[in-house]
Amino acid sequence: MAEISKRPYKEYSVYQIWPRSFCDGNGDGIGDLIGVYSKLDYIKSLGVDVIWFSPLYPSPNADYGYDIADYKDINPEYGTLDDFKKVLDGAHERGMKVLMDLVVNHTSDEHYWFKESLKGKDNPYHEYYHWHEGKNKDGKTPPNNWLSTFEGGAWEYNENLNEWYLHVFAKKQPDLNMDNPKVREEVKSIMRFWLDMGVDGFREDVITFISKPANLPDGFPLPAATGVEHYKNGPHVHEYLKEFKDEVLSKYDCFTVGESPMMTMKNALPYITEGENQVLDMMFHFQHQEADCFMTEWVHTPFNLHKLKKAFSTWQDALYGKAWNSLYLENHDHARIINRYGSLKYRKESGKMLATMCYLQSGTPFIYQGQEIGMTNPTVDSIDKYKDVLTFNNVKIAKKLHLSDKLFLKLANIASRENARTPMQWSDEKYAGFSTTEPWFVLNDNYKSINVKESEEDPDSILNYYRKLLKLRKENEIFIYGDYKEHYKASGKLYVYERNYEGRKALIICSFSEKGAKFKAPEGFDLSKGELVLNNYQINKINDNGFVTRPYEARVYLF
Ligand code: NOJ
Repeated sequence: MAEISKRPYKEYSVYQIWPRSFCDGNGDGIGDLIGVYSKLDYIKSLGVDVIWFSPLYPSPNADYGYDIADYKDINPEYGTLDDFKKVLDGAHERGMKVLMDLVVNHTSDEHYWFKESLKGKDNPYHEYYHWHEGKNKDGKTPPNNWLSTFEGGAWEYNENLNEWYLHVFAKKQPDLNMDNPKVREEVKSIMRFWLDMGVDGFREDVITFISKPANLPDGFPLPAATGVEHYKNGPHVHEYLKEFKDEVLSKYDCFTVGESPMMTMKNALPYITEGENQVLDMMFHFQHQEADCFMTEWVHTPFNLHKLKKAFSTWQDALYGKAWNSLYLENHDHARIINRYGSLKYRKESGKMLATMCYLQSGTPFIYQGQEIGMTNPTVDSIDKYKDVLTFNNVKIAKKLHLSDKLFLKLANIASRENARTPMQWSDEKYAGFSTTEPWFVLNDNYKSINVKESEEDPDSILNYYRKLLKLRKENEIFIYGDYKEHYKASGKLYVYERNYEGRKALIICSFSEKGAKFKAPEGFDLSKGELVLNNYQINKINDNGFVTRPYEARVYLF
C-alpha cells in the first residue's frame, strides 16, 4: 500500500469568504473586514483551521475583485490594510490561518501597469501584457481566433497602438505576459508582501492558465474560450510555478491551492506529486462539478450520480500516497449544491449527506460561506437584478439565440454563479442580519427560516452537523490519512466507500435518492460491530448486516 506523508495542510479544513456578501460591518450594504472581524468566533466555532479570502484588493469590480487594480492594498469598500491586519491577527489568535487569493493570470485594465502599457510600445510596462499586431495589413483582424470565457473575442483592439491585447476572461482583465521575467518578479514581490505580513498561503486563481504559447496558434472553435487547449496547461507553466516555489514559497511556512479549470487527473499529477518538482500543494479541479451539466452549468443536464462518483474516485485512487486532494462542493463560481446534487424537499438531509460524501474522502475540505447552514439558490425574478459579467454575456448569447427573458431567467436561476453570491443569512432580522441597509445584491427570501441564528438553536441543523463532521475528521486520522475504496459502483442511488488506516476501517454510506435503496455491507464489514459515528437520521436500525436507506440518508461506521 502507498505510504502517506503527514503534512499540516492535510489536516486542515478551510472556510471560504467571498467578502462582498459575508457580513457588512459599516452599514453600506456591502460586506467588509469589520464584518468579518465580528464573525471570527463563529468561523472558529465551525472547527475550521483556515480562512481563504476571495480577493480583497482594490478593484473596479468588473469581476468582483478578480480584476485587481493594486495587489498590495485593500479595497476601500472592504476597509484598510490596518483592518486586514486586525483580521489576520484575530484569526491567528484563534489558531486559524489565512489564505489570500493570488490572481496573476490577469490584472484589471485600471492597474497602473496596464495604464502605462497603453502609453506606447517603448513603455517598459508594454511588455507586461500580451500586446500583438493584428493578422492582416490593416491590423484590424485579431492575432488569432481565440475567444474569451466571459465576453466574446479574447483580443481587444487599441487604435493608438494599432495593437491588440489578450484577455482570456473579461475585456477589463488583460492577461499578464508571464514570459517577461519582470512580471514574474512582480508576482514574487506580491507573494512576499503578503507572506511577510503573516499570511499563510495562497489560493492561486486560474494558475494553470498563466503560460501562453509564443506562436499564438488558432484554437479549436468553441462557443466560448476558443484556444483554451493552448494555455490550460501552457508550455512554461511548470517552470514558472517552480520559480515561485523555489524563490519564495519554500522560504515560508505556507501552503497553496491552485485553481485549474479543465484539468485532468493525468495533467494534474506533475504539479502536485510530492517531491522535488511539486509546485502546488493541491489543486481545485472541476470534474465533480460536471455531474449535472456539460462543461458549464449553463448547459444543464439531469444529475448523474455515476458521473459524480467517477470524478471523485478517479482523483481519490490516483492521488493517494502521491499527491493531495482538495475537497469542495461550493464556491463563488457555482450554484448552491443542495439545488444541484441534493433536494430542496430534503434540504436538511441532503445537505448533511453531501457534506458526508465529500469531506470524509481523502483531502482538505473547503467550505463556502453559507454552505454550512444549507443556503440555497435564490429566485431572481428579473434579469436587471443580476450583477455579474458572465451572466451579462449569457444574456447577450440568449438574445442572439432568441431565447425569451422568461426562459433565460429560468436557466439563470439554475446555472448562474450568482446563485452563490447572495448575502450570508445570519438571522431572520431585516436584511438577514447581513446589513442594516438594502444589500448590494438580492437576498434569498428564505432567510427567515434558513439562517445562522436559527441553525445555532437547532441541535439537528446542518450547521451543527458540519461541526460534528469536522470534529470527527480532526479526531480520527483515518479520515485524513486513510486510503479510499469505492463500493456499489454500479448503483444509481448509493455512493459507498471505505477508508483504511493503521488497522482501522470506516464505511461511508450515502444515498442520493428519495427512494429507498437496499444496502448490505460489503465483505469484511460487520455493521453490528461498527460504531455509528455520524448519521443524518435519529433512529438507525440494521437488518441482515444492512438497511434500506431513507431519503438522502448518510451513515458513517467506524471499526
Ligand atoms: C476564477 C475565479 O474563481 C472566478 O471567480 C473568476 O471570474 C475567474 N477565475 C477569473 O479571474
